[in-house]
Amino acid sequence: MIDLSINFAGIKSPNPFWLASAPPTNSGYQIMKAFDTGWGGAVWKTLGVPVVNVSSRYGSVNYRGTKMMGFNNIELITDRPLADNLREIEEVKKYFPDHAVIASLMVESRAEWEQIIKDVENAGADGIELNFGCPHGMCERGMGSAVGQEPEVLKTIVGWVKEAANIPVITKLSPNISHITDPGLAAVQGGTDSISLINTIKSIVGIDLDSYAPYPIVDGKGTNGGYCGPAVKPIAMHMLKDLAQHPEIGKVPLSGIGGIETWRDVVEFILLGATSVQVCTAVMHYGFGIVREMEAGLRQFMEEKNYQTIYDFAGKALPNVTEWKHLNLKHKVVAEINADKCIGCDLCYIACDDGAHQAIALSDDPAIRIPSIIEANCVGCNLCSLVCPVEDCITMVKRDDGKENVTWYERTENDDIPVTFDDDRAGGKGHFVPTPQDALKHRK
Ligand SMILES: Cc1cc2nc3c(=O)[nH]c(=O)nc-3n(C[C@H](O)[C@H](O)[C@H](O)COP(=O)(O)O)c2cc1C
Ligand code: SF4
Ligand code: SF4
Repeated sequence: MIDLSINFAGIKSPNPFWLASAPPTNSGYQIMKAFDTGWGGAVWKTLGVPVVNVSSRYGSVNYRGTKMMGFNNIELITDRPLADNLREIEEVKKYFPDHAVIASLMVESRAEWEQIIKDVENAGADGIELNFGCPHGMCERGMGSAVGQEPEVLKTIVGWVKEAANIPVITKLSPNISHITDPGLAAVQGGTDSISLINTIKSIVGIDLDSYAPYPIVDGKGTNGGYCGPAVKPIAMHMLKDLAQHPEIGKVPLSGIGGIETWRDVVEFILLGATSVQVCTAVMHYGFGIVREMEAGLRQFMEEKNYQTIYDFAGKALPNVTEWKHLNLKHKVVAEINADKCIGCDLCYIACDDGAHQAIALSDDPAIRIPSIIEANCVGCNLCSLVCPVEDCITMVKRDDGKENVTWYERTENDDIPVTFDDDRAGGKGHFVPTPQDALKHRK
């Protein structure tokens, strides 16, 4: 019997699907509707000092017909009165006592932190999330990512919050930093119960070619926004992995955020150590209903793998994410084209010839459109299989016998690494490369 429920640092939720603090959690109306649709938790749109928002607020990167592949915003924290939000938190908890309602907070002084923590606790919030991530507007006022980028300040504020709070604390990190483990460790040392990440990435998504202003345009001007949506998922997963693998940070529960849209995204974040996930852009794009596909897919995955709870597979990918120096230098794959599937578009040929290793040949007979792999030249880089538009037409097949495993680390230990520019032990020696003049052979 599959049980999707979680206990995230003391915050109980019927499933790991939470709404991230953002427009979809702006009101009790939206959160009740989301819970009714299947979401297990919601992080309320950040509460704090009163703000004034601008119009417009959002920009996007549309890529080849895919709208909002990347999304950015210059919106601030909530502009609704605190009293209204507190009353609605109370109402949501009355209807959904078993769902997770987490209050995202961002204020400045210690006295303000203490007051607002008391307010949300009295309203019945199950937890607090500290917004140290907004990379626009609020950071100019010393909050948001301005705190997320200063580990010592972050640690001090987490300490204040932990002293004042009686409910679990989640520290939400900014990705706008070189090493995510610096603020991550500061949060743990400050006493945080858990960590969530990522907030948005500082960005400019485009420039209008008439007004020369960045999007979104506010009366002829713009500013950097916070980038999110499918485009940021790889960055979020990498940062999650860095935290999960850290000996101290990895001990606290991690909530994964950034580009999550499908059940597969959810599973991938859990495999990298998250035990709850949060979603914003995908809900802004498609609505609360996406949680149904997420739940059905997650259940099916767990059924197939024979997992009963989220904790049965959380972090299972972590041992396989290693440093480059520990990869097997003897592993060898080459590309193989399935002639029955090939449509003769020759995209693989041009990609390999211009952008890789000249390991794909075209026939001299123009009637034959199916290219062939020159195995001796193929370094197994994957490029052709990535550009091929036909599913499973180019596959990478193993050529080593699996008997040898030698890593750069081991070679270094054994004093067996190339040390001069022309060292015979270097890779690439003996690889076939056409002469420069071969590039001109079709010239009339
Ligand atoms: C329009 C908009 C407003 C947001 N407002 C907040 C906010 O008030 N507090 C916060 O912690 N994060 C805020 N975020 C960041 C999201 O909670 C989330 O961390 C980020 O969007 C990455 O998730 P996604 O790729 O699913 O959108 C906002 C994001 C967007 C797009
Ligand atoms: S795997 Fe790389 S080198 Fe080999 S054929 Fe494909 S593109 Fe060329
Ligand atoms: S890209 Fe794929 S479909 Fe196109 S020619 Fe190469 S193998 Fe065939």
